[in-house]
Amino acid sequence: MLKRNWMFGFVLLLAALTLLVVGCGEPEEVVDDPEVVEPDEVVITVAAGAVGMELELTRDLAEMYSEANEGVTVNVLDTPDMVEDRLGLYLQFFEAQSSEVDVYQIDVIWPGDLAEHFVDLYEYGAGAVADDHFPAIVENNTVDGRLVGIPWFTDAGLLYYRTDLLEKYELDAPQTWDELEEYAQIIQDGEREENPDFWGFVWQGNAYEGLTCDALEWIASNDGGTIIEPEGVITINNPNAIEIVDQAAGWVGTISPEGVTTMAEEESRAVWHAGNAAFMRNWPYAYATSMADDSAVAGVFDVSPLPAGKSGSGAATLGGWQLAVSKYSENPEIAADVALFMASHEGQKYRAVEGTFNPTIMDLYDDPDVLEAAPFFGSLYDVFINAVARPSTVTAPQYAAVSELFYNAVHDVLTGQKNAADAFEELELDLQDLTGFPVE
Ligand code: GLC
Repeated sequence: MLKRNWMFGFVLLLAALTLLVVGCGEPEEVVDDPEVVEPDEVVITVAAGAVGMELELTRDLAEMYSEANEGVTVNVLDTPDMVEDRLGLYLQFFEAQSSEVDVYQIDVIWPGDLAEHFVDLYEYGAGAVADDHFPAIVENNTVDGRLVGIPWFTDAGLLYYRTDLLEKYELDAPQTWDELEEYAQIIQDGEREENPDFWGFVWQGNAYEGLTCDALEWIASNDGGTIIEPEGVITINNPNAIEIVDQAAGWVGTISPEGVTTMAEEESRAVWHAGNAAFMRNWPYAYATSMADDSAVAGVFDVSPLPAGKSGSGAATLGGWQLAVSKYSENPEIAADVALFMASHEGQKYRAVEGTFNPTIMDLYDDPDVLEAAPFFGSLYDVFINAVARPSTVTAPQYAAVSELFYNAVHDVLTGQKNAADAFEELELDLQDLTGFPVE
């Protein structure tokens, strides 16, 4: 008898546990009972970047939306910093047609490669605001007439320099790469006497998308084209491109640490932020972080256009991020509303003022609060609107593969495995194989 009771109890316990487990996996089954489960709450998940203050600011906007919209909770999913890693994660979600992420923060180079996974935001009200944004970015995000991402912030490469050190060594902000080289060496030699960790120039030399951006700037500023031109011609194997990439290889271990060939944005920024570099190439987000309380360079730095090569003017690579709504979302309408809120005038102003993220809404460049927080949005406006695009539209859906070939070739030159002439001769062949495009 005792044994039977014990057995009965055990079976009951098992049944209860099973119900509990099933209940966790399938919340719909218990939704009917209002005592057990919260009222219908829609959860929208935004996959977002975490470079500089990005994550914090996206979370703030998520909270603002949740507070203003009862019944909706917006979660922010932190994704890897490096473009390739983030893309790898996104591709896993797409492959599984996962509804786990509703809104994706996507790079300006991705609309062509990833369009098939996103809804057309014109079907969710984006038509009312599209004209407020820079037309070139809207065009970039439009694939076969579908708006696959609402522009969120734009980016362009800038030169950060130490005003205190230029003054100390009686130098001006460098106008050319040759000047940058010379000034970086002078300042480095002087500062090293006190600070053995000091370097002249830090930038993004790891083998990844960021190197494609940096190297495109060197090449475009030296009249060396844009790797593959918008009309589908491969131009990378030319003397001006070869010359400037060989020159950049000469910076490694002289004015830049050997380790620059493993640095992405955040690693180079760490050197700068600690006060250990005279110059840095980076995006606008580094302005806000450089002004922060924990920065060694707050108040003693400024930004300018990147130096010029042969062309006589500097070139900035066009970067930036959009918000796209997944085709696999269970709530595309609400997800689109979240994306449009985050990319709205209010959302972009907040990020511009708090984190110096460049708006894509043109009006915000005249906004006094924005200009006070980021005066260079006004003074360097031309840099932002003339930024050089990577060849992502013309090579879609193969851009990621094109860029990988390019940055690996440049990285081989930076690490001394090849000279640029050999590297670009091989690259030209590889690009022909991959794209089928002709050579100039
Ligand atoms: C920045 C740019 C993005 C670029 C990336 C490379 O995030 O906005 O367009 O691809 O840097 O690291």
